[in-house]
Amino acid sequence: MEIIIRPTQEQCASIGGRIIANLIKRKSDAVLGLATGSTPIPLYSELARMHKDEELSFSEITTFNLDEYIGLSGDHPCSYQFFMNEELFGKIDIRSDFTHIPNGEAEDIESECLEYEDAIRSSGGIDLQVLGIGSDGHIGFNEPGSSLGSRTRIKTLTGKTIEDNARFFDNSNQVPRHCITMGVGTIMDSASLILFAFGEGKADIISKAVEGPVSAMVPASILQLHPSVKVIVDEAAASKLANLDYYNEVYANKPDWQE
Ligand code: F6R
Repeated sequence: MEIIIRPTQEQCASIGGRIIANLIKRKSDAVLGLATGSTPIPLYSELARMHKDEELSFSEITTFNLDEYIGLSGDHPCSYQFFMNEELFGKIDIRSDFTHIPNGEAEDIESECLEYEDAIRSSGGIDLQVLGIGSDGHIGFNEPGSSLGSRTRIKTLTGKTIEDNARFFDNSNQVPRHCITMGVGTIMDSASLILFAFGEGKADIISKAVEGPVSAMVPASILQLHPSVKVIVDEAAASKLANLDYYNEVYANKPDWQE
């Protein structure tokens, strides 16, 4: 795991944007895994800026989102489809038929999940997956206790996640109880991953995910076993890391050839 700590969210997003731009330069038809929530918003703004100011093109890019609420249509303002259209897809030159988000209104959820897995496989697999982290350690909506080998499936959100996400809805009763999410195993199949976390509220869980034992009770901790993960966090989210000084030293002395 490479831990990159920068003072602000914007500086973290700028590093993330550069990593994605470099990938697209190397592979114009790369497959990106995308997240929603507050965390990736600065990254998506940066990608939209790079598209506008630096001619970064997404015309051949395929995307797969991690998750979607069950029961919300794509034009519901709290759906992740709506979020992606507003925050990213509507601002770049991506082809809408190259973007994928689980269908939370599918009649047959089980088939929807199997087809989602097939679509990821048929695309050649995810080159780079963007992740946020829930305050309970979830990635995607793989809540504590999720199988570390799980695939795309229906999950029930924890009370904590419902409480955390109520800020996007009028009240917590409106937050759907169920979602479709890529599994932990699906996420771990990505060739590389970047996990972003910002703010003091994520400091405890970042220290557990990065420095604690690998455990299904902290699903993000499985990333310790992946060969290509960058954890990009602001100083507030990094504040409880025991090896903080070492991570800063590694980043400051990174050889040029390592990008
Ligand atoms: C969203 C997702 C979740 C969020 C997590 C953090 O697609 O998969 O794992 O990344 O709940 O949410 P925020 O960024 O709102 O703190």
